[in-house]
Parts: sequence; C-alpha cells; structure tokens
Amino acid sequence: MITGRCCSFFVVPLLALLVSTGLVKVDITPLFYASGKLLPDYVPEADGKALRVPNGEIREFLQRAGLKGGAAEQSAPLKGVYMFDQMGPVGWIDFSYATWDSSTGAADVNMGTVTAQAGVPRPEFGGIGPFVPGGYLIPFVEWVQYKVRFYCPARMQDGDVCNLVESLFGHPYPKKGEVGSMLWHMTRFDGGRKYVRDSWLVPPWVTPDESYHKTHGKFHSYRLFLLMHANGTIDEEHFSRFMEKLDGQDLVIPKILAKFL
Ligand SMILES: *[C@@H]1O[C@H](CO)[C@@H](O)[C@H](O)[C@H]1NC(C)=O
Repeated sequence: MITGRCCSFFVVPLLALLVSTGLVKVDITPLFYASGKLLPDYVPEADGKALRVPNGEIREFLQRAGLKGGAAEQSAPLKGVYMFDQMGPVGWIDFSYATWDSSTGAADVNMGTVTAQAGVPRPEFGGIGPFVPGGYLIPFVEWVQYKVRFYCPARMQDGDVCNLVESLFGHPYPKKGEVGSMLWHMTRFDGGRKYVRDSWLVPPWVTPDESYHKTHGKFHSYRLFLLMHANGTIDEEHFSRFMEKLDGQDLVIPKILAKFL
C-alpha cells in the first residue's frame, strides 16, 4: 500500500542495493547510469509549449524564475534556491515555494516546483540515482503530488536538524514524531550554504527513538547546495557545479514555472 509515509520513490532504486540487513552493499550504480543513459530524453509540455530551458539560458532563467514563489517570509528557516547533489537528475528546489507555519515549525514544499536536468547526470553528481532522465521525473512528481514537510527549528544554526516527512496523492502528512519505513534528517552546514539530507531505514518491527540515527548506519545521503541567496545573489561556486552536473543538458521545468519561459 502506498501512503504518504510508507516510502519515497526517490529511494526505491536504492533498495536494490541492499542485501537483507542493509550492511552489505552491492554497487550497481554504473549499471543504472548506463541503462538510464539509453533512455531517450523526453520533454513534457504545457499548452503546447515545451517545458525546457536551453542550457545556455539557465542562468537568466534562474534569475527570472528564482524566489518567485511568493512565500519569501523573512522569518522562515529555509530560504533561497538550492541545487541537489547526489540525487539523480533532480535540479533545484526553491524555498520561496515553502509555506512556513511558525506555530507548528513546519515548512511545506510541493515538489512539483522542483526542476531537473533533461538527461541523467554522471554518477559523481548523481550519487546512486535515480538515473532516469529528468523529463520523465518531473511529470511523475507532479502526478503523485509529492510533497515534503520540513519540521525545523525556527532559528536554524549550523548543526541543527530538520525532520522530514512526506505526502503522496494528497494524503495528510505524518505527525512530527511519526516515522514510516524511513527516517529523514536534514542538517545545516556552512552558514546555510549546505544542507545534508540523511536517511535511515526503519524496519517495521522497530519504533525508532531519539538516538536511532546515532546507533544505526545511514542508508543514503544527498546534499543541497545554495544556488541563489534569499537576496537574489547567485552563489557562483555552486552555480558552476550545477552547470558541470548538467554537462550541456537542458533544464526541464515543472508546469508551475512555465510562465517564466
Ligand atoms: C546577498 O547575501 C549574501 C550572503 O549573505 C551576501 O554575500 C551578498 O553580498 C548579498 N548580496 C547583496 C546584493 O546584498
């Protein structure tokens, strides 16, 4: 059964990497990468318009479309636009689309606002995948109505952690302490220029406590690097890395960003 908290489709391909206990890993990333590259790129459309930004126009597009989500609340702990590193073709997440509720300490982000590269990245940038061309991923994320809730401290310092839960198909989010088959943490580093998202598998017979993440091995990690500061300045070091990751490919965008094309 798929509920909002049973599984993350982003990590489903990773399950193939695990052998029973999760302690033994078989690296089949090169295989996933090679087969993903064989898939033809696909560019979704909206109203007859290709949802694609040519590689050479990505910078201008980021400047035009970045931080336009309307929820640029000064007090929100998560601000700015961040690129994904080690998360397959996923491009950037714009926290101006997060709705921050300070009374619950929750920021909700509709993942249907996230971009992707048209093809697949090299494994050094894509981590363990998924190695699916981004043009397939974006409409899929929109279709499953993938949303993430970040429970964060109101004033985040380096080393502070947000707890993440997710929702699919409009299901309600799990409560803060509720954990499904995965436990997710996102930790802040480098004055907020970097976040590290770690995940742990939680077998059904285990109820994780506060120290679960300390006593169990991580399942997967990926990183978010600041691409555009909340004041609109592009982080050049990370932008270069982003373009290197794209390796000449175009950017595929969700429908909600079509108006910025
Ligand atoms: C935007 O913020 C960054 C980080 O605080 C800072 O380095 C940069 O100078 C700021 N840019 C402007 C135009 O204020």
